[in-house]
Amino acid sequence: MASLIIRGLTDRMTHTKTQTTLVLGGTGKTGRRVAQRLTALGRPVRVGSRSGRPRFDWQDQATWGPAVDDVAAVYVSYYPDLAIPGAVEAVGSFAALAVRSQVPRLVLLTGRGEPEAERAEQAVRDSGAEVTILRSAWFAQNFSEDYLLGPVLAGEVALPAGDTPEPFVDADDIASVAVAALTQDGHAGQVYELTGARLLTFAEAVGEIATATGRHIGYRPVPLDEYAAAAASQGVPAGVVELLTYLFGKVLDGRNARVADGVRRALGREPRDFARYARDAAASGVWDSPAAIGADR
Ligand SMILES: NC(=O)c1ccc[n+]([C@@H]2O[C@H](COP(=O)([O-])OP(=O)(O)OC[C@H]3O[C@@H](n4cnc5c(N)ncnc54)[C@H](OP(=O)(O)O)[C@@H]3O)[C@@H](O)[C@H]2O)c1
Repeated sequence: MASLIIRGLTDRMTHTKTQTTLVLGGTGKTGRRVAQRLTALGRPVRVGSRSGRPRFDWQDQATWGPAVDDVAAVYVSYYPDLAIPGAVEAVGSFAALAVRSQVPRLVLLTGRGEPEAERAEQAVRDSGAEVTILRSAWFAQNFSEDYLLGPVLAGEVALPAGDTPEPFVDADDIASVAVAALTQDGHAGQVYELTGARLLTFAEAVGEIATATGRHIGYRPVPLDEYAAAAASQGVPAGVVELLTYLFGKVLDGRNARVADGVRRALGREPRDFARYARDAAASGVWDSPAAIGADR
């Protein structure tokens, strides 16, 4: 009996937490890449999403506890956007729960120039965890893995983006920075502003994709209200229309029209260029056929 008790105590004292990383949004544009890189490093990964096991749903707090159980770090990618009502409270509550569950390290993905995102950053810092913030530009992969894939395949991208330039960032760079922050010391407390290497207007970005594909793909600027009305008439949910209106109408006003040094500071190298993204995406075949629309969602 005494030996059993001693063995139990010894087990408890020598029990070390697993190295499992919870990757929220682990099937999405950045999360999937974070999960792939961690797996390649031999690190156990738990995908946190509605299709993960255990299931994780931002709308259902009962799913959060099982997801953070016995993990060493969390990549926090909120969905759909930190600008939506309730998002700041949700990420703050999630971070507090993670700390109560002995998770020491959180890496939070946010957007640039969004006051709500900065409130979310503070709510996560308030948890007391070691926090690294990845404040990111618009993702290049929106053109190949999200809402701009359909228009690219259809041969015309019509957006209320004017001629405001944006330093599109490659999701591969975001994932590399996330993995560094999740697995190495020295990134806690950092705010990394993640952008690409140069500014491009949406018209220029579409032009680079056209060059990479060898197809004609046009860009047409449209007024914001016309864009919102067209999206609503195509059945895009009202909340998503509202979010897109906010992103194109408010955030894309030039406030983010500058490159930043987050990729270089975190990784010691320059960001991947948009032209390279376009070449790689074209070579993957994602822009080859209209049948590919939505295939990656
Ligand atoms: N896109 C950009 O250009 C950009 C730029 C800067 C910052 N961001 C930020 O990046 C974050 C992710 O946005 P994204 O557009 O790139 O999405 P995403 O990560 O490509 O895709 C969505 C991911 O979230 C999961 N998900 C969807 N609904 C969920 C829910 N209710 N609960 C839990 N997981 C859910 C999905 O998996 P399941 O379907 O399995 O649940 C999927 O893994 C947002 O916070 C956004 O503000 C985006």
